[in-house]
Amino acid sequence: MFETLKEQPADKILMLMQAFKEDPREDKIDLGVGVYKDATGNTPVMRAIKAAEKQLWEVETTKAYTGLAGDPAYGDAMIALVLGDAVPRANVAAAATPGGTGAVRQAFDMIKMANPAARVFVSDPTWPNHLSILKHMQIETVMYRYFDNETRGVDFDGMMADLDQVRAGDVVLVHGCCHNPTGANLNMGQWKELVALLLKKGATPMVDIAYQGFGDGLEEDAQAVRLIAKSCPEVLIAASCSKNFGIYRERTGLLMAVSNDASRQKMNQGTLNYLNRQNFSFPPDHGARLVTMVLTDPALRADWMAELEEVRNSMLGLREQLASELQRLSGSDRFGFIAQHRGMFSRLGTTPELVEKLRADHGIYMVGDSRLNIAGLNKTTVPILAAAIIKAGI
Ligand code: LMR
Repeated sequence: MFETLKEQPADKILMLMQAFKEDPREDKIDLGVGVYKDATGNTPVMRAIKAAEKQLWEVETTKAYTGLAGDPAYGDAMIALVLGDAVPRANVAAAATPGGTGAVRQAFDMIKMANPAARVFVSDPTWPNHLSILKHMQIETVMYRYFDNETRGVDFDGMMADLDQVRAGDVVLVHGCCHNPTGANLNMGQWKELVALLLKKGATPMVDIAYQGFGDGLEEDAQAVRLIAKSCPEVLIAASCSKNFGIYRERTGLLMAVSNDASRQKMNQGTLNYLNRQNFSFPPDHGARLVTMVLTDPALRADWMAELEEVRNSMLGLREQLASELQRLSGSDRFGFIAQHRGMFSRLGTTPELVEKLRADHGIYMVGDSRLNIAGLNKTTVPILAAAIIKAGI
């Protein structure tokens, strides 16, 4: 039967990661996959995670199964991190998932179970894997305008006009902070307008939050998801610990289903448990346990927050440096958006041909849609990138 299989499209981000590995040039620069790197190009294990791992090795006495939703302490700690006190804990059903991707996948599964006719509205552009999973699951997908290629900010009027087509029972997927791939984000006033529209239309929001703490701070980055959770009758939230805890390969995510009617919590929780069981049974535990330890131990938590702040500030510093270098070289403010964007990414807003030229001529790797990973830079490579951008005529 395998002869019936067709070749599947390769994931553009992962393909780029491979091409970078194979490039023999010593001065190549990787601005592709969304992985944080320090000034030496290393993706460090965070100090608090290392310390928690050491403790865990000493105190862990069993590797027996946890529960279908993972360890409840992990759910509690992550719900508090993402939602604060925006909604009562009793209104939230939650299940640990293999990474943020697992949470996204389970959320789409739950949507399909609850309303097979639901359409999912996604920003244009969005993380390519959103589109790939939706297609694989045969869920009708509608794009809404998001990025203004002129200002490199959010095309909010276009977004609202497109979302006016949303019907009751549809789902609108938003990025809670640090939009991937553009780096352009709504302000709080715009989030409020969006919430009002969703309420008017009876659509369900789904929030993908994979970069909490990478934008303006842990609390600041959670403002939008908290507003949505407390304002809308139902919301799905897919959270990832890959980036803000630096535990990419441990596959640590959480799917939350929030309902303003607490009597629904039991059914929602049962559904999340069921979906985990169908797809992989028990979620991975190691990363989740480390996250729980870090979040619940005051000293580990303080150290984690301090290191996350260092990471965030280093990306902000690189944004400032790149924007000012480009201003100096171009003699214009047209790259000022790089300092305004937040998170790991910025979309330059140039053509795939020029992105390819940067790769061929300078060994600079960014995703074809001109998304660059700011954290792939350091103080030395910023001027090299800036010069290459100007030389390529971007
Ligand atoms: C990215 O967007 O580069 C990251 O989220 C990694 C991935 O899985 O695509």
